Amino acid sequence: MMKWLVFLVGVGIAMAVVLSSILSALDPNSAPEVSHEYKRQPRLKKDWPSMDGSNKKLFWIVQISDIHISAYYDPSRGPDLEKFCKEYLPVIDPKLVVATGDLTDAKLVNNIESKQMESEWILYSNIVKRCRTLAKAEWLDVRGNHDSFDVFNFDSENNYYRFYSAHGPALSKDHHFERAYYHTLNLPFGSYSFVGFDACSKPGPNRPFNFFGYLDDSQVQHLRGLELSTRKSNHTVWFGHFPTSLIVHDPPVLRSIMRRSIAYLCGHLHTLGDTVPQMYSKHKTGQLELELGDWKENRKFRVMAFDHDLMSFTDAQLGDWPLVVVLNPKDSQFLSAENEPVELIERSSHVKVLVFSPDPVSVVEVTVDGRLLGEASQEDGPLYTLAWTPQQYAHGLHDLRVVVKDARGRTKRVEQTFSLDGSQMPFKFLPRLLLMLNLYSVGKLIYGLMAFLFTLILTSLRQCSNIRTFYFQGRNFICQFLNSWLMKMWLAARTNPSYYIVTGSVLYLTFGPWFVGDLLRGRTGLVFVWGMIVQGAFIPGGITYFYGIFQLLSFSLPLVTLLGHLLDTRRKHGNRVTARHVFTIFLPFILLLFLTLYIGFKEFPSAYGMYALLFGPLRTGNIFLLVLSVYLCYKTELKHVLAINGVH
Ligand SMILES: *[C@@H]1O[C@H](CO)[C@@H](O)[C@H](O)[C@H]1NC(C)=O
Repeated sequence: MMKWLVFLVGVGIAMAVVLSSILSALDPNSAPEVSHEYKRQPRLKKDWPSMDGSNKKLFWIVQISDIHISAYYDPSRGPDLEKFCKEYLPVIDPKLVVATGDLTDAKLVNNIESKQMESEWILYSNIVKRCRTLAKAEWLDVRGNHDSFDVFNFDSENNYYRFYSAHGPALSKDHHFERAYYHTLNLPFGSYSFVGFDACSKPGPNRPFNFFGYLDDSQVQHLRGLELSTRKSNHTVWFGHFPTSLIVHDPPVLRSIMRRSIAYLCGHLHTLGDTVPQMYSKHKTGQLELELGDWKENRKFRVMAFDHDLMSFTDAQLGDWPLVVVLNPKDSQFLSAENEPVELIERSSHVKVLVFSPDPVSVVEVTVDGRLLGEASQEDGPLYTLAWTPQQYAHGLHDLRVVVKDARGRTKRVEQTFSLDGSQMPFKFLPRLLLMLNLYSVGKLIYGLMAFLFTLILTSLRQCSNIRTFYFQGRNFICQFLNSWLMKMWLAARTNPSYYIVTGSVLYLTFGPWFVGDLLRGRTGLVFVWGMIVQGAFIPGGITYFYGIFQLLSFSLPLVTLLGHLLDTRRKHGNRVTARHVFTIFLPFILLLFLTLYIGFKEFPSAYGMYALLFGPLRTGNIFLLVLSVYLCYKTELKHVLAINGVH
C-alpha cells in the first residue's frame, strides 16, 4: 500500500509540474517572456490627441480565411465569395482585403488524398480578379497548409500560388523564398503596415501529416527584418495561416518578433466544429491573436477598423446585415495597454459606431449600464456618433449595448464592456489554451510522458513477484475493482508474449519508422514520431506526436487491457469457453481487430500510396501483433508464472 502511495504521489507531482507550467503559459499577467528592454514604451500622454466625432482618422479592412475552393466539394464556396465581393465589399469599401490561407482545398473526392489542382487555383484567381475590380481594395493573400499539400518547394511547378494568387506572382518574381512581405497603407493621418508570412511546411507533404507550420532560421531572420522596416508605422498587423501555437521553430521567437504589433490575424482551426466560434486571446507581450472562423463552411469574415489608432473589429457571416463595429468606447477585452492608452477613450467626445448596411439605417440606439444614452446620428457614410461624457464611467467595467435597426426591419444588437481604469474581462479558457500554448511542445511532452509511463508501469509490474502484496486493503467495490485490474496488468507484464509485444510496440512507435510512403507524389519518404524524412529534407514532427498519442490510446492501451483480461480469465477458468467469454474477450478482440484493420488499410495507404501498406511496420504490423499476441497469450503456459509465486 505504502509503495503505491509513493508511486502515485510521484506521478501526481510530475503531472502537477507539467500542468502548472502549461497554465502559467496561459496567463498573460505572469512573468513576461520578453525582457524589459523589449517592452514597448507607451507613447507619452500628451502625444495622444483627444478623439473627436469625425471620420478624419478612420479606416478599415476586411479579413477572410480558409476559403477551400474545391473541385469536388461544395461548389458554392467560390460563387459565394464572388457574391460577397459584389454585395458586401462595395458597401463596406475596405482599404484592404486579407486572405489568410487555405485558399484552395486540394483534396480529392475521397477526402483523403491530396493534390494541387490548377482548376481550383484558376477559379480562385478569376474570383479575386473580379473582386478587385468591384472593390478598389488591395488584396493580400498567403498560403495555408492545404495550398502546400504535395508542394516540394516554393518554386515547384505545382506551387500554383506563385501564378494564380493575388500576391504570389510578386513574391515569386523577386525570388522572395522566405515567403513573407509587408504592405503599408500611407494615409493622411498615419501609416499602417500589414506583414504577411507563409509558414507552410517545406517540403509540404500530403495530408494528414501536414498540419503544423514551420519557420526556419532564414525565415525568422527575414521576419525580423520586416519587423524593423515596419516599426515606424502607427500600427502593424501581422497575418498568416497558422495560429502561433501551431508554428514549429526553435527557439520559439515568433511572438516576441511580433510583440510591437497590435494583432496577429490567422485562421486554420476554423471554428473547431462550432465549439469555438470566437477564438481570441492576448499574449504576454500585449499583442492580440485573433483567429477567424472559416469561409469553407461558415462563410465568416471580419471587419477590422482603426479610429484614432484605436483598433476594433467584428466577425460576421455571409447573410448578416447590418454589420456593426463599435469604435469608441472600445471593447475593454481587446484593449492593449502598450498600444492603446485608455486616455484616448477618457478624452473622447463621442460614442462612435460603424454601421454598414445596403439599406437605410433607421436607428442606432446606445445604452450604457442599462440606461439609454440616446440615438447616434449619421456623421458621414457608415459612421454614427453620439456625444457623451466619459468621466462619469471612471471606475470599473461598464456594459455598452448598441442596437441597430434598418429600414427592412433587420436588427443587430452588440453587447460589450468598456472601462477607463484598465479593468478587463478575461478571455475564455479554451481559446487561450489553443492560441497561447506551444502545441508542438505540448504534444511532444504528452506523448513522451505517456510512452514513458506505459513502459515504466509494465516493467515495474514485471519485477514484482507477487502482486497480492500490493493489493489495496478494503472490502469496498473500488478496492476490489482496482485489485482485479492490478492482477490483470500484472499478468500481462509477467507473461513473456504480452510484455515483449506490448512494450516492444511502444518502443517501436517511439523510435522506429512508422511507414514508408509517397509523402509527396512520386517522392518516397519515411515517417517517424519525431519527424519525416523525404528526399534529403527533414520535417520535424508535429501532428505526428498527436497521432502517436492516438496510437497509444487506440492500440497499445486496448491491447494490454485485452491481454491482461484474457490471461486473468485463463487463470480463473482455464481454457473453458463460456458465453461470457465470448462477450468479454472474443467480442472486444474482434472490435479491436476491425479498428486496426480499418485504420491500417484506410488512412495511410490511401493518403500515401500502397507502399504505406506493404512497408508499414506500424499500422500493418499492428494487425499481426494483435493476432499473434492474443494467440500466444491463449496458448502460453500460465502455471509456472503463477505457481512460482503461489498465486492461483
Ligand atoms: C500616427 O503617428 C504619428 C507619429 O507618431 C502621429 O503624429 C499621428 O497622430 C498618429 N496618427 C494617429 C491617427 O494617431
